[in-house]
Amino acid sequence: MPPSHFLLAVLSLLPPIQASPSPPVPESIQVVELPLPPVISSSAEGACTAAINPRRTGCISQVFEEFQAGDFTPDSNHVIVNIKFVGAPAAPDPASTYSGEQVILVKADGTTFPNGDTWKCLSCGVPASNAQSLDPERDYPHVARNGKQALWGHNILDCEAPLISSECTPNKTHIYPIHWPTSVDGSGSGGTPREMRLHPDDIHMGWSSFTATGGQHAYFGRLQFNPSPTTGLPLAPRYDLVDVNILIQPNGAAPIMANGTELHLHDEAISVGELRGFSGAGDEILYLGSPREANNLDVFAVHVITGAVRRLTSHPEYIDPIAFSHDNNWFVGMDTRGSNRQMWMAGMRYIPPLIDLVTVTAASSTRNNGARRFFQPILIDRHGDRGEYFGQQINLAGDGSNGSINDPNWNGRADPAFSPDGTKIVYWQALVSSPACGGANPLTCPVSSAPGGRTYRVMLASLTERQPQDPAPIFKIPDTIPWATLFPPGTSVPTQYTLPAGNYTLHGKVHGVARARITANPTYGGYETVSVEYEDYSDDNGHVINGTESVTLTITPTDPWLSKLDWYSDLYETGVVTATKRTGPGGFQLSINAQTNIFEAEGTLTTTIDGIVYKQPANGT
Ligand SMILES: *[C@@H]1O[C@H](CO)[C@@H](O)[C@H](O)[C@H]1NC(C)=O
Ligand SMILES: *[C@@H]1O[C@H](CO)[C@@H](O)[C@H](O)[C@H]1NC(C)=O
Ligand SMILES: *[C@@H]1O[C@H](CO)[C@@H](O)[C@H](O)[C@H]1NC(C)=O
Ligand SMILES: *[C@@H]1O[C@H](CO)[C@@H](O)[C@H](O)[C@H]1NC(C)=O
Ligand SMILES: *[C@@H]1O[C@H](CO)[C@@H](O)[C@H](O)[C@H]1NC(C)=O
Repeated sequence: MPPSHFLLAVLSLLPPIQASPSPPVPESIQVVELPLPPVISSSAEGACTAAINPRRTGCISQVFEEFQAGDFTPDSNHVIVNIKFVGAPAAPDPASTYSGEQVILVKADGTTFPNGDTWKCLSCGVPASNAQSLDPERDYPHVARNGKQALWGHNILDCEAPLISSECTPNKTHIYPIHWPTSVDGSGSGGTPREMRLHPDDIHMGWSSFTATGGQHAYFGRLQFNPSPTTGLPLAPRYDLVDVNILIQPNGAAPIMANGTELHLHDEAISVGELRGFSGAGDEILYLGSPREANNLDVFAVHVITGAVRRLTSHPEYIDPIAFSHDNNWFVGMDTRGSNRQMWMAGMRYIPPLIDLVTVTAASSTRNNGARRFFQPILIDRHGDRGEYFGQQINLAGDGSNGSINDPNWNGRADPAFSPDGTKIVYWQALVSSPACGGANPLTCPVSSAPGGRTYRVMLASLTERQPQDPAPIFKIPDTIPWATLFPPGTSVPTQYTLPAGNYTLHGKVHGVARARITANPTYGGYETVSVEYEDYSDDNGHVINGTESVTLTITPTDPWLSKLDWYSDLYETGVVTATKRTGPGGFQLSINAQTNIFEAEGTLTTTIDGIVYKQPANGT
């Protein structure tokens, strides 16, 4: 079939397709901790005394609560942080404004603000009339490229002057809630967005939202200032989300589709799970998508106009938070690679993602154990994992001792960020804490060696061999995303292709076959059991799979977040590796809740690759 004129027109806009260049060599990286306000152990009123902070500009607590570091200001010398101030004196003491959850800038170049502090509060003391009906969500702080605005959870902070300047005072600052109208007449408090990310053009926004059954969809829209709303809550000056698209392609391919009794895998399918942000130029939307290999969760990029999908990561370990450099040539991801956290279930490569119909929620939940995370920051070039290249761990230097930059008890959190000039990366970590250690848990709780015994820290990585880079031109977003679905107020989520239960054959891309039996849950719908038999199956030239795998999901109607799996694996892989993935006698019964992520299992599931054995974690760890 000849390409249509439309397709030709679109293709002519694209750069010529090139093979991925050879991977970069590891580079030199220096990591230091950034200063934060003084720490106090009591949060009682007035505990933040002049003896502790002579400038009376706030104290923070030892324990991590409502803390999140974000990205840099345009000069690459400051980082935005959401912080909780504690121990402030009562009003009318001027220090009383350094209280509760606030958004601050932290110096990242070793200098101080004119008052001598290494931080400056952006939201403290903003007059109430300038900050009406704020949304309580204050996560994922982000500096707009214009340097005068910041995304602060579900609010936008606007300053008349650059955020870094002394001219940006509380009186010149306004903070507005963001409202997502979803009812036809615009009434009500609107939709519940989560994980909001600002596009590099400072005008558009991407976010995710849960469905009642624990599913999630991603959305893209434009911020429009509404100085005096007449409908919808809050009835206060606010930013409305307009021209909203749901990131679903009408009648688009699904990752796995049936044609009669044959299954087909569609790598071109746009399957946006959780939206994670944008490329540095803003031409691509980043997301966690449907797995391409069994139990291996990855980050993908989809082009805003063409809908072309790129798989950015393929390492069997789990990746989630991700940020691009402004020159669009690199990204940093928070990933469990190196920790072996997921290798017992995902280490065998090139297994098609069939059991994932029932295991995907569990496979993304085992990545952490409650408050214990396994994320470390990984630097990868824009072309992503390929061949033997899986990026470079940013904080590899250090001796692994308590409090060192590569102490595994300091767990990476969301989001990391690149400095606009591309020479620095910021990320933050929290120390593993009870109940993920201590008490009945076999893991001892480490004692913090951070200033004041803080259990959270912000880390600055300098890419010392790099020269400052200019940002890529910002991609111009069209009024509608050609491949997505308009989602004006009052619309419902479009129905998408669902693979019918049945018995199927999937042919390997190179050779062999997988025979799959997929059954539906008779009571609640959705899938119940996926059983697959592999015979000489190969999707690439290096991995051949034989054996069987079968997983049954028990649905708990009162808790859509709970996965209970009864799992049997007996898989063999030959070729460039010799590997097995096997459950022990009686199989493997996993029970995990996607909101708490506490590992609880009976039986065993073990993956062995060239003699290296990867076992499941112990219960509760
Ligand atoms: C800020 O504005 C308030 C009321 O509008 C005024 O009383 C106060 O003096 C102003 N503060 C500064 C530092 O200008
Ligand atoms: C489905 O299979 C039939 C028979 O092999 C084939 O003619 C048809 O093109 C296939 N459809 C798709 C969408 O692949
Ligand atoms: C390091 O922390 C562990 C707890 O994780 C503790 O048992 C150990 O004593 C600490 N080591 C030193 C040298 O402080
Ligand atoms: C699928 O195959 C199994 C036997 O392996 C058989 O019992 C079952 O009825 C088949 N299901 C369908 C829908 O044909
Ligand atoms: C996999 O199965 C095929 C077909 O039954 C067989 O020829 C091949 O030897 C098997 N490979 C292994 C490693 O068992």
